[in-house]
Amino acid sequence: MSTEIEWHQNVFVPEHVDSRLIATKLCVEGSIVVQSAILERAHPSTDALGGEQPGPASGDRTKGKRRAKIIAFANQKGGVAKTTTTLNLAVAFRESGHDVLAVDLDPQGNLTMSQGIDPDKVEASMYDVLVEDMPLSDVVAEREIDIAVASIDLAGAEIAMSAKIGRERSLSKAFDEVVGDYDFICIDTPPSLGLLTVNALTAADKVIVPVQCEYLSMRGLVQLQNTLEMIRENLNPRIEIEGILPTMLDSRTVHAKEAVEILEENFGDLVFRSRIRKAIKFAEAPVRGASVLKYDPTGNAAGYYRELAEEVLTGGKT
Ligand SMILES: Nc1ncnc2c1ncn2[C@@H]1O[C@H](COP(=O)(O)OP(=O)(O)OP(=O)(O)O)[C@@H](O)[C@H]1O
Ligand SMILES: [Mg+2]
Repeated sequence: MSTEIEWHQNVFVPEHVDSRLIATKLCVEGSIVVQSAILERAHPSTDALGGEQPGPASGDRTKGKRRAKIIAFANQKGGVAKTTTTLNLAVAFRESGHDVLAVDLDPQGNLTMSQGIDPDKVEASMYDVLVEDMPLSDVVAEREIDIAVASIDLAGAEIAMSAKIGRERSLSKAFDEVVGDYDFICIDTPPSLGLLTVNALTAADKVIVPVQCEYLSMRGLVQLQNTLEMIRENLNPRIEIEGILPTMLDSRTVHAKEAVEILEENFGDLVFRSRIRKAIKFAEAPVRGASVLKYDPTGNAAGYYRELAEEVLTGGKT
């Protein structure tokens, strides 16, 4: 039994602990096809993100009336473009006139770095918000979008939070202060299903799951779905998958085409229509401390994320 599953046992699983754990184990080892049956997609409609919609472009809202839609970007597999997607989609929302906060919940601090901020030099970070109850606005830096920064300290947050009552809800509580100030809050998560990711999923309305199109990565969706089920039952009933996003696609290879086909066969409407193709600009932009939309505004790479933003904003049925 993996450490992660033991951890779920401690934190989430209520009376029916045994059957739940057995189910979890079987599903983790089992096939995607079985699991796809329990995945649900947010119903695309004019209400693309469910519930209240963000208002029109900023400036014409009465402060206090709006409530940001909170999207977590999660996949416990590393290197699938969570951070790249969080930043570039956040900036694409901003381009379309929305007020956006991006939250770096990964101790690696890649999102923070990708906006030109050195995580080793920040005075206060999401660690202080989650562990010391510092107001979230105190760790927000203004860049292309507003960004709540991470530092390496965040690596110790899971242990420091573990003794707190309500440890899974620390982020959700911290958002109360800022949720009326933004249209979207985009949370970048680390490559694990530990307490930081659980905080993100507990605070979020929706999850976007970037998937690099190869088999092992898709198997990871099964484990993520089990975590979502537990979150839904115990911590946050409203959490839904907004979409699964095929990333780093090299459509010239047969393998990549097959991988997308398998993804669509198994997850159907859950898979975004937008495709994020491979492009060198994605590696270059963060080095300049910029999104691809700023680094190469007219390039294809920027277009992929503008298209995704459009799909999310319109409910994907354009
Ligand atoms: N479409 C793309 N084409 C080419 N390279 C990409 C693309 N998207 C992301 N990358 C690069 O792939 C690497 C991993 O991306 P990223 O850091 O966004 O993944 P991640 O899921 O956040 O990783 P981690 O799990 O470590 O947090 C980065 O170097 C990034 O620049
Ligand atoms: Mg990352």
